[in-house]
Amino acid sequence: MKSIVVTGCAGFIGSHLTEKLLQLGYKVIGIDNFDPFYPKRIKEENMNHFRQDSSFVFYELDLRVDSSLDIITEPVDLVVHLAGKAGVRPSIEDPQGYINSNISATRNVLDFMRKKGVKKFAFASSSSIYGNNKEVPFSESHNVDRAISPYAFSKKSCEILNHCYHHLYDLDIINMRFFTVFGPRQRPDLAIHKFLKLMKNNQEIPMFGDGSMARDYTYVSDTVEGIVKSCQYLFDHENVFDTINLGNSYPILLSDMIATIATSAKCTPKIKHLPMQAGDVDQTFADISRAKKLIGYNPKVSFKEGIELFVKWFTQKDTPIL
Ligand SMILES: NC(=O)c1ccc[n+]([C@@H]2O[C@H](COP(=O)([O-])OP(=O)(O)OC[C@H]3O[C@@H](n4cnc5c(N)ncnc54)[C@H](O)[C@@H]3O)[C@@H](O)[C@H]2O)c1
Repeated sequence: MKSIVVTGCAGFIGSHLTEKLLQLGYKVIGIDNFDPFYPKRIKEENMNHFRQDSSFVFYELDLRVDSSLDIITEPVDLVVHLAGKAGVRPSIEDPQGYINSNISATRNVLDFMRKKGVKKFAFASSSSIYGNNKEVPFSESHNVDRAISPYAFSKKSCEILNHCYHHLYDLDIINMRFFTVFGPRQRPDLAIHKFLKLMKNNQEIPMFGDGSMARDYTYVSDTVEGIVKSCQYLFDHENVFDTINLGNSYPILLSDMIATIATSAKCTPKIKHLPMQAGDVDQTFADISRAKKLIGYNPKVSFKEGIELFVKWFTQKDTPIL
């Protein structure tokens, strides 16, 4: 039975990934420090879906602390590194926090792998690193030197650091650039989650810009499928250093996103128009041909279908009061 470390296993994507890997018969060593970016009880609820699984082991530890992973005694075949501080706007308030939780923590994970002889690494990067590049769809071959937020800077820095460890220590690495992931358990700070909650409470929705901002939303099961296929590719190949977009290649305008949620939730949105926010990119739009070719990535869930599943989940659960 292969053993996979999932950092950030209590988070939105990490909890779905852990569940999937356990279903597929992997042993999962989960790492999380319950970072207070959003409440611990939400993360504990996420973990309730697999905490009792006999193939799951959990370490509550902080990846910012040097050598913190050294307490892991189990054999490890691959690391999926999802832990970190997410979010563009908060990174402008706390750039050093993002440098610590994203760049320093990633260095710590890579050194753990080097010391323990673990060769396979799948890293959570982000569409944010494309900044305001005008050429769309975004391709992995495009220049990404013009970050417009500390968050984007931190993810790009990690991709470069990953290359150093690939070159120096023969680690096989895939940088997976996620494009706005949504679905059940979505982080409460993300727009779809926030907007649905506001609509349900009959409150105003802050719409930044004129509604023409667009995002290439990806349903979480498609992202998870992309991560699992990246792991399988890493297990089957040697001397890998690659970067792939895990998006949907179907950008949705902000105004359409609000309308789709409203239709699905049977609400009438009250929109409050506000200026664009610093750090927000105008659009994201993934060219996914490389991911298709390399790992056989094939996203299946349409935006409308995904929103319906999200609204159903949101309506049925006990919505935590944040
Ligand atoms: N959700 C998206 O749309 C999206 C898009 C692009 C990239 N990403 C990246 O994917 C990854 C997962 O995103 P998510 O939406 O699931 O976020 P999340 O915040 O729900 O999950 C991240 C988890 O990492 C943990 N963590 C943070 N700092 C840690 C530390 N120092 N030590 C140990 N654990 C730590 C947090 O407690 C959290 O449970 C992140 O790296 C994020 O930047 C997400």
